[in-house]
Amino acid sequence: MFLKKVIIATVIILSFSTISIAQTMQTHDSTSAKSQQLQLPENVHAVLIHEMTTITHLMGNLLEFIVRGDAINSSRAALEISNTNLKQEFNLQELKKIMKILPKGFIKMDQKFHMTANAVANAVDTNDFKTAINLYSEMTQSCVSCHMTYANNRFKNLKIKRKSK
Ligand code: HEC
Repeated sequence: MFLKKVIIATVIILSFSTISIAQTMQTHDSTSAKSQQLQLPENVHAVLIHEMTTITHLMGNLLEFIVRGDAINSSRAALEISNTNLKQEFNLQELKKIMKILPKGFIKMDQKFHMTANAVANAVDTNDFKTAINLYSEMTQSCVSCHMTYANNRFKNLKIKRKSK
């Protein structure tokens, strides 16, 4: 248990060591919410797509394990999702460059997504499947929010809708 927490903490710190913690949580208020297509070098784009395919698959597994109340496999899948990120494929120098091209809002959304995956692992470790499924739902909302903001050139129907009442 303790070792797992240390590993999770280390992963989080390593993943985001180049990101300023001072960034506030207000990046995506209603006035700033507009699409910003990512301009990524081809190799980075390819890795991102691979990452997306992997997490899509793992999210399916995770749902099944949560609804079965399978703590061991849920925890494993949630941690795998959390560990699926660009840093697996690039060295530190390359990562620093990538961090500079990625919009801050994107990094924040990605960070939140990975932290929520870790929180799912912590919840199922104590058999708290109610919390786990709520967090799972937050994760799915992150998918759509990020795609609406950073991938809607690609996914044309994902437009941020304003209420017109
Ligand atoms: C922080 C931002 C972010 C989050 C969070 C995110 N995605 Fe993505 N995803 C992207 C971007 C950007 C692209 C499109 C890249 C492009 O322009 O081709 C993408 C592409 C995809 C694709 C298309 C892959 C392909 O075959 O080309 C799938 C599927 C996908 N995401 C699934 C998910 C799922 C499922 C989740 C949540 C569990 C998720 N994504 C969360 C940013 C995100």
